[in-house]
Amino acid sequence: MIPNLWYVVLDSREVRHGKPVGVTRLGEKMVFWRDTDGKIACTVDQCPHRGVALSSGKLVGNGIQCPFHGFEYDTSGCCTFIPANGRTAEVPKVFKVKSYPVREQYGLVYLWWGDPREQYPPLPDFDYMRDPNLVYSSTSDWWNSHYSRAIENQLDVIHLPYVHHNTIGRGFKTVVQGPRYKVDELPGGHDLINLWFDNEIEQGQVPRKPNEMPETDRHPLIQFRFPNIWHNWLGDTFHLFLGFAPIDGENTKLYLRTYHAVKTPLLRQIFNLTSNLGNIFIARQDRRVVVTQRPFRSELRMGEKLIQGDGPVIEYRRRRQALIDGG
Ligand code: FES
Ligand SMILES: [Fe+2]
Repeated sequence: MIPNLWYVVLDSREVRHGKPVGVTRLGEKMVFWRDTDGKIACTVDQCPHRGVALSSGKLVGNGIQCPFHGFEYDTSGCCTFIPANGRTAEVPKVFKVKSYPVREQYGLVYLWWGDPREQYPPLPDFDYMRDPNLVYSSTSDWWNSHYSRAIENQLDVIHLPYVHHNTIGRGFKTVVQGPRYKVDELPGGHDLINLWFDNEIEQGQVPRKPNEMPETDRHPLIQFRFPNIWHNWLGDTFHLFLGFAPIDGENTKLYLRTYHAVKTPLLRQIFNLTSNLGNIFIARQDRRVVVTQRPFRSELRMGEKLIQGDGPVIEYRRRRQALIDGG
């Protein structure tokens, strides 16, 4: 994992009012809940007393109560009450469970994976997410893959005519020009990879190198924001969003959204349903091959034999390693 970054870990709808939810994220069992103001809290999902999952307990005020012996924990993970010791007893400081800083924005829950800070960097969103003229459909998919492999697949322009031969890769454009990509360094290490690509039908041409590709003022077709969100620009009011929530070393949950401007209720419903079905269909085309990649996790130096068209994947690996080393 790259330390000291905000990770998208959940869709807001997964954390309901009045009920804790236990999930595994970033290799750790965590419990999320909402306090009485609706603000989300997160701690490790293990009672420090005798190891029960707090997520199987219930909410009491702003905190959570362990179902085994009723110990209560506040949103910072401190135990506030041990019923067996009586209401007047002081609670020893060792009864504390690790908590994580969490934020919520545009229907997504972000978790800070790293050292506590006085001030945290801004959340790694995209401009269109705050556009009041856009609405979105959303769905999710579970991949038996490390998140690095799932992300790389979305930066891979070589696979389109093979994996998606009957959908987004129609036309058998197998020759990869460039592709051209550019990295923007952004506050707090939430860097951005911008990617433009033009695949062509084989005609005996020699693909140009990335630095031979003409400068363009076209909007990047693909953008990836570290550590785990991706964007496909399909027009000013049409965007695909993917959040890759790391579960553990071998699993990732993908959050897929289509942002659009279709607001008439019935049309919007139809558009959302069609978008979700289309997104899942295409994601399953990817998943079928990506889950077979070994080793599970990609690395900068791992002995894979890469080609020019893998440029964005290499850039992802390089930048990820730099962020890990510098984090
Ligand atoms: S195991 Fe949680 S209160 Fe005892
Ligand atoms: Fe794909």
